[in-house]
Amino acid sequence: MTYSPLALLARGEARFTGDLPLPPGTLHAMVATSPQAHACFNGIDRSAALAEPGVVAVLTAADIPGTNDIGNLFRGEPLLAVEEVHCVGEPYALVVADSADAAWRGARELRADWQPLPAIFDARAAYAAGQLIQPPRTFALGDVDAAWASCTTVVSGRVELGSAEHVYMETQCALAIPRDDGGLKIHSATQSPSGVHKAVAAISGLPMHLIEVEVERLGGGFGGKEEQATPWACLAALAALRLRRPVRLQLDRPDDMRLTGKRHPYSADYRLGLDAQGNFLAYEATLYQNAGCTADLSTAILERSLFHATNAYRLPNVRVTAASCRTNLPSNTAFRGFGAPQAIFVLEAAIRRAARQLGITPESLQRQNLLHTGDAFPYGMTAADDRATACWDELSSHFDLAGRQQAIAQFNASGGPLRKGLTVVPVCFGISFAATLLNQAEALLHVYADGSVSITTGAVDMGQGVQHRIRRVVALTLGVDEARVHVASTSTRSVANVSPTAASTGADLNGEAARQAALRILAGLRPLAAELLACPPAAVVFAHDAATQADGRRIAWPELIVAAYARRVPLSALAHYATPGLHFDPSANQGRPFAYHVMGAALVEATVDVLRGTGRIDRVAVVHDVGLSLDPTLDRGQIEGAIVQGIGWMTSEEILYDENGRLLTDTLASYKIPDLYDAPAIDIRLRQDAGAAGLLGSKAVGEPPLIYGLGAYFALRAAMAAWRPLPDEVQQTPLTAERIFTQLHDL
Ligand code: MTE
Ligand code: HPA
Ligand code: MOS
Repeated sequence: MTYSPLALLARGEARFTGDLPLPPGTLHAMVATSPQAHACFNGIDRSAALAEPGVVAVLTAADIPGTNDIGNLFRGEPLLAVEEVHCVGEPYALVVADSADAAWRGARELRADWQPLPAIFDARAAYAAGQLIQPPRTFALGDVDAAWASCTTVVSGRVELGSAEHVYMETQCALAIPRDDGGLKIHSATQSPSGVHKAVAAISGLPMHLIEVEVERLGGGFGGKEEQATPWACLAALAALRLRRPVRLQLDRPDDMRLTGKRHPYSADYRLGLDAQGNFLAYEATLYQNAGCTADLSTAILERSLFHATNAYRLPNVRVTAASCRTNLPSNTAFRGFGAPQAIFVLEAAIRRAARQLGITPESLQRQNLLHTGDAFPYGMTAADDRATACWDELSSHFDLAGRQQAIAQFNASGGPLRKGLTVVPVCFGISFAATLLNQAEALLHVYADGSVSITTGAVDMGQGVQHRIRRVVALTLGVDEARVHVASTSTRSVANVSPTAASTGADLNGEAARQAALRILAGLRPLAAELLACPPAAVVFAHDAATQADGRRIAWPELIVAAYARRVPLSALAHYATPGLHFDPSANQGRPFAYHVMGAALVEATVDVLRGTGRIDRVAVVHDVGLSLDPTLDRGQIEGAIVQGIGWMTSEEILYDENGRLLTDTLASYKIPDLYDAPAIDIRLRQDAGAAGLLGSKAVGEPPLIYGLGAYFALRAAMAAWRPLPDEVQQTPLTAERIFTQLHDL
């Protein structure tokens, strides 16, 4: 049977880190965690844990041979707490046992003396107390202070955005195996193999060349395994080093939900000013990000919020300030969209308030103020084309926006307990890591003697299909059947110093490196093929599984490879790719941080039952800019998944902590993600016009469509407002059934 990375997943045959066969003698580890949101502690008492049958060892920070710090953007993030803890669930010891059960039971038996300290859970309270991860940052354009005077309409308001749990299917997992040379082989379910690599080197004190990190695939990551897969791999590595035995650590679902960070909740104040013609003149916003107890990636996420604060709109005068606030919650982390969805929500809320004050539809204001070619973003780039309006207009005409507005108005006029609402959400999403150095990738390609091809890059497949895209690009470039190409697992031994698979750049960066590696192989094969075909090298075409020339003569690919080996032509290549033209100065907040922008627009329709207080999202229609799609089916899957994930965040997914900072919603019974029945009908039109973009003219697709999910909130609110005028209260997500009911009935 031919191998297909997607079929393995579809058939349920794909093996994840936790499914790997365990080497003989493997031990299992589990962390003992803080019961306090903020406390000093001492006197760790191991006796009860060690008395638990099967428990082999209890390790603490004192057992770390290297440095007890796994911070990436900032130092000072201990692997195991020393003397002080900063959130409920922070690990302070590691219990190692001969079964996962025994390790878990042992961890529950560990005791320490806790002296509680004051804790803060709210971002604004942390801000007021001066608890900031770094000084606030401001992105500005034009002269916002002067612009207010020219505004005839000014609206202001406040937004509270909730958190969200990643709910990747595979929970956090790592397996560390000691090697005979004193090194370690680590299987980690991480989006960031080199992040794990560096952190294991730091805690072990080993040089990186003695450590290998391998990632076959992930059962979902969604950002939750970009930074926060690292501690589990380090803990397994620590135990493996100390005990000279293989050690596995896998969290169960409730522990995964309790111990790992989530999407950052944001609180925000906004002010939007318009002139008499309805043009946006001035926008000011302050964003308070709830970072949780460490920096993690929070400052990079905050920066992406600032980059996206104006979404797809022309805003000549802007000032957006954002603060990353330290609270005593598990450190929040990357989640699809990386801070952009939060910032975009704030502006979309402002626009709807302005429309309401003016007594017009939000859609008319939105359309009028979309970006055109040359319009400036606050960070030094300008809109490269008119794709924002092109997508909107295609959405409007193809999905009959005016007709839908009319049909909904008629429906709502007919009485009864149901009301319908509609909204449109445009998106403009910058593609590239804002940190320029991360925009590089490497690929290693081998052609074997039978003509089969192996490619490995730094890309981690987490279900988004990046391996499939890389395979397709290599096959297209070499002109061979896709079945000849195998994408090997990601390993720091094959490709070093890899950027995390994140920022939707996985295919753009690693796919281009793979293409460059394939081109190198062809450069070596071309003179040989020309000689064998008796034609000039430039006349050789690599296609249809052969090298051919104009008169139709051909050498089949496997024969060419046999000949190449005999002639000592290199059949392996390593290529590096760095996205050209990128630069960004974070002190001036100016530069060219993104290779390109992804545009699009979605029409979202919802129904509420005002008696039952329930809501549902009926339909989402989308026009989305994918460039020259490498695989339209995969692109559609990414768009659908992102939309449903966004809808969940906006509607049913509510993270609740008790007053002591303990997570209440720590099961999938108390935390409701959308299921098949909640998912609306989704109609997608891919806009495939060429333009400057990424891999072979395609555009990144992983994160931007999540923004369309914001429409769930606004469509539900529109439906509610069709039943009765809603007070201008704080806009708060998620808009759960409970909130729909209480807001409709003033409870
Ligand atoms: N799709 C699936 N099925 N599973 C995932 O974990 N992660 C998303 C997106 N799509 C994810 C996904 C996130 S957060 C990102 S950044 C991109 O995929 C990363 O992959 P790419 O860069 O290859 O698009
Ligand atoms: N997106 C995702 N992950 C990241 C980014 C980003 O922009 N920057 C650093 N890590
Ligand atoms: Mo995605 S949040 O950049 O892993």
